[in-house]
Amino acid sequence: MQISGSTVLLTGATGGLGHAIARSLGARGAKLILTGRRGEVLEPLAAELGARALSVDLSARPELQRLIDTVGDIDILIANAALPASGTLDTFSVEEIDRALDVNVRAPIMLAHALAPGMLARGRGALVFISSLSGKTATPGTALYNASKFALRGFASALRADMREGGVGVSAVFPGFIRDAGMFADAGVKLPPGVGTRAPEDVAKAVVTAIEHNRGEIDVAPLALRASTTFAGMAPELAARIARKLGSDDITRQMHAGQREKR
Ligand SMILES: NC(=O)c1ccc[n+]([C@@H]2O[C@H](COP(=O)([O-])OP(=O)(O)OC[C@H]3O[C@@H](n4cnc5c(N)ncnc54)[C@H](OP(=O)(O)O)[C@@H]3O)[C@@H](O)[C@H]2O)c1
Repeated sequence: MQISGSTVLLTGATGGLGHAIARSLGARGAKLILTGRRGEVLEPLAAELGARALSVDLSARPELQRLIDTVGDIDILIANAALPASGTLDTFSVEEIDRALDVNVRAPIMLAHALAPGMLARGRGALVFISSLSGKTATPGTALYNASKFALRGFASALRADMREGGVGVSAVFPGFIRDAGMFADAGVKLPPGVGTRAPEDVAKAVVTAIEHNRGEIDVAPLALRASTTFAGMAPELAARIARKLGSDDITRQMHAGQREKR
């Protein structure tokens, strides 16, 4: 799938990773449609990249429908917007649970549902879902975020199989801890020594690779973190015990405190 000249719908463009993805695709000649809630962040980015800006709250179903009705033919969807949804379940109101599921799961599914038929009819397209290593391994205190990111992984994986004959690529990208910008960096969490990070530009690079080479799944994390995620997938109980010993509860506490505003 060629990015240059393709029309790309990117959700969550106002966020830390969204900025990097937008700039990277803009530099490759994509015709960008950028979304986010904060117009004051969205508009300058869109002006910088010659993009179309659509301010939309993805948790509001009529607004999501309006977005779908407005965008026209899309060649590449990057479902990137999400809420951190960190904290134990008892700390969430019903409204907050609904919002997290609407933004993190329902909106990507509805966008794929609306845009994939056009891509199939044209015989070209790509759907990219930004999940997380939290979509592969569960950690204490992030049940809702884990649920939403595991859901995206399953959705993308099955959809990929369904689309394989139609010329439409489906990919999921799994960032680990991303430094400098985005929901992890904004939370100001101090990681234990030896736990590595990646930059927003590395996530953008993975998105480009996913689109250009139709890769099913790409992790964006140092080798040790990717290896421990694989191990946790095979032996979740043991991995959770080891992670607790290495300070995972402390990371969770910091994350919860730092992301409390983003619900
Ligand atoms: N940063 C990391 O370390 C990391 C690690 C793993 C996975 N990820 C994933 O990477 C993606 C991008 O995250 P990020 O780090 O860039 O987070 P971020 O800086 O918090 O940005 C989140 C984006 O989602 C948008 N969003 C949130 N609620 C929305 C709503 N109701 N309607 C419309 N847009 C909404 C935000 O828009 P407004 O701010 O304008 O409302 C913002 O553009 C997410 O899917 C996240 O789960 C991030």
